[in-house]
Amino acid sequence: MSKIVVTGGLGFIGSHTVVELQNQGFEVVVIDNLSNSSIGVLDGIERITGKKPIFSAIDLREKLAVQSFFMEHNDVAGVIHFAASKAVGESVKNPLLYYENNLGALVYILQELEKKKEAHFIFSSSCTVYGQAEVMPIAETTPIQPALSPYGNTKQIGEEIISDVVKVSAINAILLRYFNPIGAHPSGEIGELPIGVPQNLVPFITQAGMGLRAELSVYGNDYPTVDGTCVRDYIHVVDLAKAHVIALQRLLDKKNAEPLEIFNLGTGTGSSVLEVIAAFEKVSGQKLPYKIVERREGDVTSAYANTDKANTVLGWKTVSTLEEAMDSAWKWEQKIRTSPEFAS
Ligand code: WQD
Repeated sequence: MSKIVVTGGLGFIGSHTVVELQNQGFEVVVIDNLSNSSIGVLDGIERITGKKPIFSAIDLREKLAVQSFFMEHNDVAGVIHFAASKAVGESVKNPLLYYENNLGALVYILQELEKKKEAHFIFSSSCTVYGQAEVMPIAETTPIQPALSPYGNTKQIGEEIISDVVKVSAINAILLRYFNPIGAHPSGEIGELPIGVPQNLVPFITQAGMGLRAELSVYGNDYPTVDGTCVRDYIHVVDLAKAHVIALQRLLDKKNAEPLEIFNLGTGTGSSVLEVIAAFEKVSGQKLPYKIVERREGDVTSAYANTDKANTVLGWKTVSTLEEAMDSAWKWEQKIRTSPEFAS
């Protein structure tokens, strides 16, 4: 049974990926410093799969800790690297936190994998590297735009670091550029656990639906889109997690065409903010209180994926609809607000 390390494995996308890896028979070791996640997620994973992953709370910014981890786990077949700070606004206020955390950790992990005769690396990247792409849908060949935030820059630089390293090592890598992950596991055992006021649309909507937020502020309705609100590609987190296992297996089976491959992961469909609100109202049966306010700095008008490459080369495509994803997010929100274990 291949041993796979998942960094940030107690986070939103990481935890759902751990479940899918275990479902496929992998032995999973989670690294998470709990700076933006909860140890209770380990129990949620175990309740779904019956297997509790090995857990290490090392901080990936500690080079010696990373070295000793990989000495202890010298039989690691691959790494899926999620661990990173990811709040766009925070990155503008505190860029060095982002460069140290997101790039320091990446370098230390790659230094350990570089020592191996063979290593497989999946990198959690982002559609933010495309900035405001000229043409929709966005393909992997769409030109990279200058990053709009230090967070986005760490993703761009991270991709460049990996690209340089695969040329001079036995590391094979796949960059997965996500669009907008939403939703929760259908079991209701794991989901998104934003800390404080959610910056992202869907958790804010579900919290407003529970009355935790007075109303949603819709950031602008004067964009050149179907209804004036921004368009994004909202992908169910379980569909996204499954893509990680397929990409990893591709490397393990040596089916990758190049030492470095890139895939956009989305549904291929754009949805406006108002369409997301309508989907919530349909699945919840309740009206969502919202108001239109001014645009948010840094928002792009539209971003949705051309999924041809992931569909044909990876043999992966999303199966969940926007409404199904919203339904899972809503059920999760209701559960965490009524379960004593989540009482905050
Ligand atoms: C979506 C839309 C907002 C909140 C995120 C991540 C980014 C990357 C892509 C991973 C926008 C609008 C939001 C609110 C609103 N993922 N909105 N009111 O900005 O596309 O980026 O996904 O790397 O890191 O941040 O997602 O959910 O913040 O916004 O009107 O209270 O919803 O204007 O159009 P975004 P988001």
